[in-house]
Amino acid sequence: MDRNRDKYIPALSYEWLTPLYDLVMQLIMCESTFKRRLVEQMRINKGYRVLDLGCGTATLTILIKKAHPEAEVIGLDIDPDILEVARSKIRKAGVDIALDHANAIELPYPDNSFDCVVSSLVFHHLTHEDKISTFREVFRVLQPGGELHAADFGKPHNILMYLISLIIRQFEETLDNIKGLLPEMLHNAGFDQVEETERYMTVFGTLSLYRARKPR
Ligand SMILES: C[S@@+](CC[C@H](N)C(=O)[O-])C[C@H]1O[C@@H](n2cnc3c(N)ncnc32)[C@H](O)[C@@H]1O
Repeated sequence: MDRNRDKYIPALSYEWLTPLYDLVMQLIMCESTFKRRLVEQMRINKGYRVLDLGCGTATLTILIKKAHPEAEVIGLDIDPDILEVARSKIRKAGVDIALDHANAIELPYPDNSFDCVVSSLVFHHLTHEDKISTFREVFRVLQPGGELHAADFGKPHNILMYLISLIIRQFEETLDNIKGLLPEMLHNAGFDQVEETERYMTVFGTLSLYRARKPR
């Protein structure tokens, strides 16, 4: 299969919009509500090794590290520019977080090396094939019994969200999300106990939280 491994969709689709990303998230994406909920859902224990996949500007990564200073937290993203923003925020926050520049479809970590992987608003940036590869990679790097926690666009849960989805579903990368296929794709990658745990209304449509476990 011919795939350009360096190609990716930046946080707000265009590189020149990246400096506005945090502002947009704060103003229109109920960011603090769903990210706090995601951190609670992860139930991080002392000494956990946690990967924030597609960490972007590291808002969630920093939130996790501040809530669980004893956990080892690593952020990964494909976009070197957004990693610079993340690096500067991490420095200002005074926390110890390692950042890795890599593609989610080829994670630079050994098998079974994380207790928990979290990912927020990343899967709708990936093509169908890249979602499949990424879910396989997340499964590979998780310990048996380890969990994936994710926030991303999901199947519309009311008429208003359905109407918004008519626009969003025009993009190949968002179609699996809108059709509600992420749980099935996670099952196919080997995960069990896959659930959609919460849903939020946003201006871009339904935002769902997911949990999936790698069997012991
Ligand atoms: C909408 S932003 C979300 C950032 C952050 N997780 C958050 O919730 O604010 C999507 C992020 O996914 C990253 N991304 C897109 N494709 C990727 C890939 N193939 N591998 C790793 N990161 C990717 C983008 O660079 C961007 O930072």
